Amino acid sequence: MEQELFESVDEYIGNLLGAEDNVLKGALKSMKDTSMPGANVSANQGKFLQLLAVLSNAKKILEIGTLGGYSTIWLGRALPLDGHLLTLELEQANADIARQNIIKAGLDPIVDIRVGKALELLPLIEAEEIGPFDMIFIDADKPPYTEYFEWALKLSRPGTVIVADNVIRGGKILDDDSHDEKVKGVQKFNKILAENKHVTATILQTVGNKEHDGMAIAVVKREC
Ligand code: SAH
Ligand code: DHB
Ligand code: MG
Repeated sequence: MEQELFESVDEYIGNLLGAEDNVLKGALKSMKDTSMPGANVSANQGKFLQLLAVLSNAKKILEIGTLGGYSTIWLGRALPLDGHLLTLELEQANADIARQNIIKAGLDPIVDIRVGKALELLPLIEAEEIGPFDMIFIDADKPPYTEYFEWALKLSRPGTVIVADNVIRGGKILDDDSHDEKVKGVQKFNKILAENKHVTATILQTVGNKEHDGMAIAVVKREC
């Protein structure tokens, strides 16, 4: 019942303000051949990420978890021509699909996909000194979310916006005794986020055409 209403309202908002063009529609279709069909953000969530990138005047964005490049396209479209988006993906097959979608979006000059385990790629990115990033979107596997957050902080400056997807998981995060590794991963992340003195943060609960979930949004504070 309620889910139907959430979906109808999501559609209403999308029709008004979050319309996908043919590139995004095509990317979404191509996602059926990825390892996690349906794990992409929704259109309105993509628009929301894009707004955050615009708000933070982002020139450099880091994304952890590319899948087929759907969120990458929403974020990449917020960047100026001299912007740069670096996105990390474990699976070569997903990255290949993402690359095609990014080329179709005309974003290949500013998007760089790196393939491998994010926790192995992040130290290399630090060594290359391509940061600090203006915005960082964490959306890969859930158990190491806390480690991704720690890396995000290292690659940040005061004012950097850090966003983490899927931190509510249908409310399963309320269960302190959960044995679900994904739930445990985001529970730990949410706690560390709340306790960290270098960021100010909140979590936005989300409903719509995806299951009930949430996005954490943090801003790195000026020196305190
Ligand atoms: N951001 C995408 C969805 C990402 S789904 C969107 O909204 O469109 C999560 C992705 O993280 C999957 O493609 C998965 O292969 C990738 N992933 C899982 N574990 C990873 C790891 N250790 N390092 C990098 N990517 C990983
Ligand atoms: C999962 C991951 C995601 O990034 C997402 O948006 C939904 C589900 C998952 O691993 O279950
Ligand atoms: Mg996600």
